[in-house]
Amino acid sequence: MTEPHAMPDDETSATAEAVAAVEAPPSFTPARVGVIGAGYVGLVTGVCMAALGHQVTLRDIDARKVAALNDGQVPIYEPGLDDLMAEHAQRLTYTLSLERLLDRSDIVFIAVDTPPSYSGDADLSRVMGFVEELANLGPEARQILVMKSTVPVGTGRRVRQMLEARGLHGVGYVSNPEFLKEGDAIADFMNPDRVVIGASDPEHADRVAGLYEPLQAKILRTSVPTAEMVKYASNAFLATKISFINEIANVCEEVGADVAVVADGMGMDSRIGRAFLKAGIGFGGSCFPKDVTALKQLAGNSGYHFQLLTSVIEVNELQKRRVIGKLKKHLGDLRGARIALLGLAFKPGTDDMREAASLVLAGRLIAEGAQVVGWDPVVKSLDGVSGVQIAATAEQALQGADAAVVVTEWPEVSALEWTRLSGAMNRAVVIDGRNALDPELMAVAGYTYEGIGRLPGLGIGGEQDQG
Ligand code: UDX
Repeated sequence: MTEPHAMPDDETSATAEAVAAVEAPPSFTPARVGVIGAGYVGLVTGVCMAALGHQVTLRDIDARKVAALNDGQVPIYEPGLDDLMAEHAQRLTYTLSLERLLDRSDIVFIAVDTPPSYSGDADLSRVMGFVEELANLGPEARQILVMKSTVPVGTGRRVRQMLEARGLHGVGYVSNPEFLKEGDAIADFMNPDRVVIGASDPEHADRVAGLYEPLQAKILRTSVPTAEMVKYASNAFLATKISFINEIANVCEEVGADVAVVADGMGMDSRIGRAFLKAGIGFGGSCFPKDVTALKQLAGNSGYHFQLLTSVIEVNELQKRRVIGKLKKHLGDLRGARIALLGLAFKPGTDDMREAASLVLAGRLIAEGAQVVGWDPVVKSLDGVSGVQIAATAEQALQGADAAVVVTEWPEVSALEWTRLSGAMNRAVVIDGRNALDPELMAVAGYTYEGIGRLPGLGIGGEQDQG
């Protein structure tokens, strides 16, 4: 992750508003909360819990990270997090020591990462490592462990068995999945659509629900496996919506329809909703690709072939590659062509490069013999793909380019002076992988423009023209 980056005021103020709207009811009792893992989810959870009034101890095994946090530095890029951390610093403690955390906490969130393993299953070694450490250090432990990390259904049962086998009978276990979007994580935490609490002991569920009392959120209480499944099913469904609209977009291109308007029309049906129907070059990030694969794998391991998710993943892979076909359609052979990638992060508002479409596109373009120049307002290197130049500005990336691909819909990309910039390009070809630009304006500005599922001339008049 790169250093925090200044965000436009409107984004920080949306976060500030979400925090300001929270008011603890008179009955509220602050708790002593621990968080294992000061990564993205752990840090946001810990800082937001402190903002709700709880005493929070965050523990990480990375000494440099703990030192930075103790110095008031935020090691991740999330709008508003630095301010919130500074504001509630007196309720936040960062430590390397699990013993110290256990001394200071009654409820302990587990927020370690669960990356995909070679088999596609979630790698639980960090979660299990923590349980082992707990067995060594806290044989008398009475804490409630709360799983925030996304873990396969059945993990709660496995952890319970491990705890019992190590004599940790007094330790509770609750599943409380996170639904935070990067870039909006604080607002999502403060204003959740729901808080899901899975527990076998109702008293443990009550205590975890009590932590969220100031939010007055809708709380769904259920069993541990059901809570675990809510998280996977939600992410898999959202990913399915994206792959679905992307396939509709591909068909729109064949039949001369405009996917953006199709999505508006679909979204007007309250059963469908407009969210997550933005066609583009597919989903990336730390959650969707990993969780969809993990759910498919989980089903497979229990003997069920999850046909639909197999297609969701495949459509997503092919969607990124379709850009190459579009470039070839306009440029012919890509050997020697200079292609500018505008936006490298997996989505705007983050510096996260996990499963970013830019990585696949850059790799494919280089394999085709193209010269690739990338630009992003936050990400300043493309690790893992060699041979990509990084431009300091979008204008520099476009200078002499044979085509530009909009990979991430940063507001800075739509705000470029496209009319003036067509002269700077060698060939004014733009493939808009996020439908971030206006097709009509791009055509008027002299570009050969192609979005995803929408072409210039598909406005009302354009559709009539096509007969
Ligand atoms: C997601 C979930 O939203 C969150 O609930 C979960 O906890 C973690 O995963 P995040 O990965 O931060 O959050 O990003 P999100 O904003 O949901 O976008 C995911 C990807 O889907 C991005 O690559 C985005 O560009 C893409 N996307 C999203 C689309 O292509 N079309 C859409 O309509 C929406």
